[in-house]
Amino acid sequence: MKIEEIKNSVKEQRVASHSHIRGLGLNSEGFAEPVAAGFVGQETAREAASVIADLIKAKRFAGRAVLFAGAPGTGKTAIAYAISQELGPRVPFCPMVGSEVYSSEIKKTEVLMENFRRAIGLRVKETKEVYEGEVTEITPEEMENPLGGYGKSISQVVLGLKTAKGTKQLKLDPSIYESLLREKVNVGDIIYIEANTGSVKRVGRSDSYATEYDLEADEYVPLPKGDVHKKREVIQDVTLHDLDAANAKPQGGQDIISMMGQLMKPKKTEITEKLRQEINKVVNKYIEQGTAELIPGVLFIDEVHMLDIECFTYLNRALESTISPVVILASNRGLCHVRGADSETLAPHGIPADLLDRLLIVRTSPYTLHEIEIILEIRAKVEGLTIDKEALSKAASIGVASSVRYAIQLLTPSGVVAEINGRTSISVEDVEAASELFLNSKASAQIVQNSLAKWMS
Ligand SMILES: Nc1ncnc2c1ncn2[C@@H]1O[C@H](COP(=O)(O)OP(=O)(O)OP(=O)(O)O)[C@@H](O)[C@H]1O
Ligand SMILES: [Mg+2]
Repeated sequence: MKIEEIKNSVKEQRVASHSHIRGLGLNSEGFAEPVAAGFVGQETAREAASVIADLIKAKRFAGRAVLFAGAPGTGKTAIAYAISQELGPRVPFCPMVGSEVYSSEIKKTEVLMENFRRAIGLRVKETKEVYEGEVTEITPEEMENPLGGYGKSISQVVLGLKTAKGTKQLKLDPSIYESLLREKVNVGDIIYIEANTGSVKRVGRSDSYATEYDLEADEYVPLPKGDVHKKREVIQDVTLHDLDAANAKPQGGQDIISMMGQLMKPKKTEITEKLRQEINKVVNKYIEQGTAELIPGVLFIDEVHMLDIECFTYLNRALESTISPVVILASNRGLCHVRGADSETLAPHGIPADLLDRLLIVRTSPYTLHEIEIILEIRAKVEGLTIDKEALSKAASIGVASSVRYAIQLLTPSGVVAEINGRTSISVEDVEAASELFLNSKASAQIVQNSLAKWMS
């Protein structure tokens, strides 16, 4: 007999540049642990980031802006990524890069505005009429296909639902049968069906089935109380941009066909300022009535020096509006020109003085040899490589001389070299060989400098 192991549904993670970061790594008193959650060193910036994350969660930081400033490779993007993980999935986090605003079709400020609204969430509580209960039967009733052919088609579905108070049999439309299949509903699951829209949501498995298997990833929920047909509070999280987009082309549905239709529509329907104001009005009304709650999230603009003077002025204004997210900026520039401004004025971080004045600035500082060693050790683990102690300190000293990023990037080629040499663990020679194969930025710049005449300029 063949027995196959069922893989659980956790996706095999790809290794990206921040895969090893799992959070800011603070202890319960709010101090940064030297090494925690994949983060090493950079304690002040991490503590600052955690204060920001706490204030965002307490909704007391909206309309403020923070700048992470520091040399390349000192972990600015990594910290922003960790903040998003600390905030959890319910608080919107919208990352963008300064250069994203340059498009030939959309105005720069429009791109910024759209991202601003992506970063503001709205939690809507609605009381909806639903049918809720444990599924006792699903019986599709077949009929001859009305279009001819051999296939049978479903005319209706009989669904039995049970609650602590009673049971009900429902006759459902075939379209709901498809949603039942999509949600993988089986007998014994607890589900609810919205009466108006017919959308199906699987809540979990009934806990009377809890002892069925020893190992299971399913969530067990108790049998619902009350009647099968009742009113239930449904909580939905949307962003203001979702509302804008939905109202700009209201014909869209939930099913896959209309979603595809939306993607393939050649022209993007414009979201006008007027529409946004209308939506703000409705949103404000909902908030006053208490049916909705505003959740200011985070707009993260990396490489902020890529924005130009128009965008910066726009940011000034947008930060002062009543509905505004927290804006986190990052830049690795020192003194440089502000794009679009007259060429003489230099500004710190490429940001004009009036915006700079509105920012809280957090510095990230370069790493020590020991810190780089630990970062490399963590990275090696994430990439599934084993590395000798001496090789690790060799790579770390290369990191001090060039950059953390270069040292991290050397790990994979070193692993390949080690494999070619028939070793299972990376040794000093492999790191050296890899660093000879691939230059770091300083070495490459030196070569260019020494042989300027041979290069095109
Ligand atoms: N303190 C740290 N602990 C662990 N890994 C780190 C730390 N700081 C940086 N890294 C890792 O080093 C690499 C470079 O960091 P990151 O991309 O955050 O730099 P940056 O400050 O955004 O640089 P740039 O200014 O060039 O954008 C990333 O892979 C990051 O995950
Ligand atoms: Mg970065």
